[in-house]
Amino acid sequence: MAGKKSAADDTVIKIENVWKIFGDRADQAMQAILRDGLTKQQVLEEYNAVIGVADVSLDIKRGEIFCVMGLSGSGKSTLVRHINRLLEPTSGKVFVDGVDVRGLNANDLQHFRNKKIGMVFQNFGLLPHRSVLANIAMPLEIRNVNKNQRMEIAERILSMVELDGWGNKFAHELSGGMQQRVGLARALAADPDVLLMDEPFSALDPLIRRQLQDEFIKLAAVMKKTTVFITHDLDEAVRVGDRIAIMRDGRVVQTGTAEEIITNPADDYVAEFVAGISRLKVVRAKAIMQSVASYEKMHGQVAPGGGAVDEDENLTNIIRIAMQSDAPVTVKRGGKTVGVITAKRVLQTVVEGTETS
Ligand SMILES: Nc1ncnc2c1ncn2[C@@H]1O[C@H](COP(=O)(O)OP(=O)(O)OP(=O)(O)O)[C@@H](O)[C@H]1O
Ligand SMILES: [Mg+2]
Repeated sequence: MAGKKSAADDTVIKIENVWKIFGDRADQAMQAILRDGLTKQQVLEEYNAVIGVADVSLDIKRGEIFCVMGLSGSGKSTLVRHINRLLEPTSGKVFVDGVDVRGLNANDLQHFRNKKIGMVFQNFGLLPHRSVLANIAMPLEIRNVNKNQRMEIAERILSMVELDGWGNKFAHELSGGMQQRVGLARALAADPDVLLMDEPFSALDPLIRRQLQDEFIKLAAVMKKTTVFITHDLDEAVRVGDRIAIMRDGRVVQTGTAEEIITNPADDYVAEFVAGISRLKVVRAKAIMQSVASYEKMHGQVAPGGGAVDEDENLTNIIRIAMQSDAPVTVKRGGKTVGVITAKRVLQTVVEGTETS
C-alpha cells in the first residue's frame, strides 16, 4: 500500500493485545494465564494478582467518539490509562499516531501528556481555591505560555463551554455540572488531538447529565477530536458514541456501532445490557429489511401503495410510514429498491429485537 492513503492511516490510537495484570507476580501470572487459561478468580487465588485488562486490541479512528463501556471493575479505566501511559501494559503495545508510547523518554512523555492528550475525570479534579480561569489555563501554564495569552485562550474556551462570566469565581463555588464543564474546558485548553474522558458525567444528576451530554455532542461535532469516552451507562454510550466497545472482566467482548451491538449482541452478557435500550433511534431500515425475493416467496408480489424509506432511516420514521398503509414499506438505496419491511417486522423489532426469521 506504499504511497497510498489506506484506512490504517486514519487510526489514531492503536491498542495491540494489551494485558494488564496488577500484583508483584504479574509476569508469572501472565505466563500461567497464557499457558493454562486461568480465570480472574484463579489468578487472584493462586498469584494474588488481579487481571485489569485481558488481551485487548482496538483501533480508534481520527475524529471518532469511541465509548468504552462495561460494569464496574470490568477494566475501563485501566485500559484507557494505558493510552497516556499512566499505566504500562504487562504485555502488548499502545500506539498514538503511530508512536509506541512505551518508547517515549521522560521529556517526550511530558510533552505528549500536556499537548497531545487532554483528560477529563469523573470527580472533576479541579483545584478548588484557584479561579475557574486559572484552572482552565493550567495545561498552558505547564507549557510556559505567557499569562496574557493563556488567559485569552482560557476566556475563549470558557465561552465554548457556556460559562461566560464565571471565570473569576473559585472552582469550588460552582455546581457539579459547572465544575465538569470547567474540567472539559481545561482538557481542551491545550488543544489536544485526543480527549480521554473517564465517566465524565457519572457524578451528575440525570437532568444535568443529559444537558452536558447534549452540549458535549454539539461541541464534539465542531472540535472533531478523537475521543475515548468511558461510561457504564449504555444509554449514554448510544447517545454520545460513534462506536462502542463493551468490556467484561478485562476483555472487550464486542465492538461496533450502537446499531450493530443492539441488533446483533455477541453474547448473553451484551444482550442483557442492550435489552433495556430503545431501538427507535438506533435501528436503521437496512438492519431489519428482508430482500424482495424472500418477501415474495412467502407473500406473493409486493402490494403497491406502501411508503418508501431510505436504507438509513431510523425505526421511529419507519413506524410513521408503515402506519399509513397496509402494504409493506420498501427500502431504497440511491433510489433503487433494496428490500422491504413488513408491519410485523417493525413490531418484532420494537418488542424483541431483530433475531427473527
Ligand atoms: N492500581 C490497581 N491495583 C490493583 N488492582 C487494580 C488497580 N487498578 C485497578 N485494579 C483492578 O483492575 C480491575 C479493573 O478496574 P478498573 O478500575 O479499570 O475498572 P472500571 O471498569 O474502570 O470500573 P469503574 O466503573 O468502577 O470505574 C478491577 O478488578 C480492579 O480491582
Ligand atoms: Mg473506572
